[in-house]
Amino acid sequence: MILEVESLEVRYGDVTAVRGVDLAIGEGAALAVLGRNGAGKSSTLRGIAGVSLPTAGSVRIDGVDVARLSADDRVRHGIVLVPEGRRLFPQLTVRENLAVGAYLRKLRPAALDEEIERVTIHLPRVRERLDQDAGTLSGGEQQLVAIARGLMAGPRVLMADEPSLGLAPIIVDAIYDLFRSLLAEGLTLVVVEQYVGVALALADQAVVIDRGAVALAGKAADLADSPDVWRVYLSGSEEEPA
Ligand SMILES: Nc1ncnc2c1ncn2[C@@H]1O[C@H](COP(=O)(O)OP(=O)(O)OP(=O)(O)O)[C@@H](O)[C@H]1O
Ligand SMILES: [Mg+2]
Repeated sequence: MILEVESLEVRYGDVTAVRGVDLAIGEGAALAVLGRNGAGKSSTLRGIAGVSLPTAGSVRIDGVDVARLSADDRVRHGIVLVPEGRRLFPQLTVRENLAVGAYLRKLRPAALDEEIERVTIHLPRVRERLDQDAGTLSGGEQQLVAIARGLMAGPRVLMADEPSLGLAPIIVDAIYDLFRSLLAEGLTLVVVEQYVGVALALADQAVVIDRGAVALAGKAADLADSPDVWRVYLSGSEEEPA
């Protein structure tokens, strides 16, 4: 297991958003994190990434517990989050946004250009727009840039929070095609997704979060075949992109 999370707890003041979550994923595999609105999916990813510091539990990457480290130090260990809502700098160009993703690596300009070439190899739409301001891109293009920015950090585990939110089916397909290419290259993925069917088709393993705890965990294919999963834990989720 490249990523092992045990008894993760995340609190916001008096609110306990994540209460004892366990999950694990092997190198080069994909984990889908599912659940209703407000279940604690984003908080789980934030706790793993260190954007929110966990109040209890462990987050091990290759056996090293990083749960007390800062978000930057976790990026140095290869844990990278593509946050909900993309969070690009709209006034900066696509190229500058990608450079931000690599800032911890302190690359020289030539090496930075090479990384941009490498990361956008599957992303012609991004490559064509490197000098365009990020704020002028379509929502789908912005999401692709957000993922590319995450890749610029050199992740071993890339976590994406609702990458297809609000996007047209054709863009959702482009994102999942990219994920498949990345998996084939050996990257490990953790994807929070409202489109349950799309996520389970990509993933090897899945967990369903309910009220801050893991309600169900197993092989993605088994969860996809279980009507109870849908009815009990995922009512209100979307089956397919609108
Ligand atoms: N910054 C915060 N301060 C206080 N409470 C928060 C904060 N962020 C999240 N919460 C609460 O923590 C719980 C889990 O929220 P979280 O965003 O993790 O859910 P989610 O599963 O990602 O939901 P969604 O599908 O709507 O994105 C919710 O009750 C939410 O109101
Ligand atoms: Mg969320």
